[in-house]
Amino acid sequence: MTRDWVDWHEGYDVAESSLARRLVVVRRYLSEALAAAPPPVRLLSICAGDGRDVLPVLASYPAGREVHAVLVELTPELADRARAAAADLDLPAVEVRTADAGATATYAALEPADILLACGVFGNVTHEDMCRTVAALPALTTPGATVIWTRGRRPDADPSQEVRAQFRAEGFTELAFTAPGDARFRVGMSRRPPNGGTALPSEPRLFTFR
Ligand SMILES: C[S@@+](CC[C@H](N)C(=O)[O-])C[C@H]1O[C@@H](n2cnc3c(N)ncnc32)[C@H](O)[C@@H]1O
Repeated sequence: MTRDWVDWHEGYDVAESSLARRLVVVRRYLSEALAAAPPPVRLLSICAGDGRDVLPVLASYPAGREVHAVLVELTPELADRARAAAADLDLPAVEVRTADAGATATYAALEPADILLACGVFGNVTHEDMCRTVAALPALTTPGATVIWTRGRRPDADPSQEVRAQFRAEGFTELAFTAPGDARFRVGMSRRPPNGGTALPSEPRLFTFR
């Protein structure tokens, strides 16, 4: 990891920044996914940061305290912040793991999730790692699960189209996609196919941040 991810989170505090606007969309998609998911609900957020996209939504959702959420975050300071936020919001079923979300072994003992967030991940990994990770998502989720993901656009290209194509290739159904013309963020929400591989890939890593 070469970036200062604590510093990166300060982008959220800039009003109307692409990141601040992205957060609004991710939270809205998560609210919709929670409303559509029959309890009991399991949620997994990979590279979860400080959990600000998940935790306030759970706190405002009627059954949010019952959602078993696992947030996997490698930077200890951010994981600590997420733990503190979950405690402040009285969310006892939230577990924050300070762990490597790119390592396949991290998921070995995890129950499949009904809702999975991969926000701020695909822009930091190679195309091959993005494809491998999307292909592995059926092993991390229940049939019909909802996956919420993000990908930034560059001035010269919009790699979110590659992510959408990869989800389609893996049999996911796109439920929603937001791509404002005046901002670089893109957010997608896709439904996992009812069938699909449930075995974790044999490779030791799904992705590595560049
Ligand atoms: C772009 S930020 C996104 C944070 C959060 N998902 C969000 O959208 O606000 C990427 C996060 O991934 C974390 N990270 C980087 N490599 C990781 C890894 N191998 N496993 C888990 N987290 C990782 C960073 O510490 C950082 O918090």
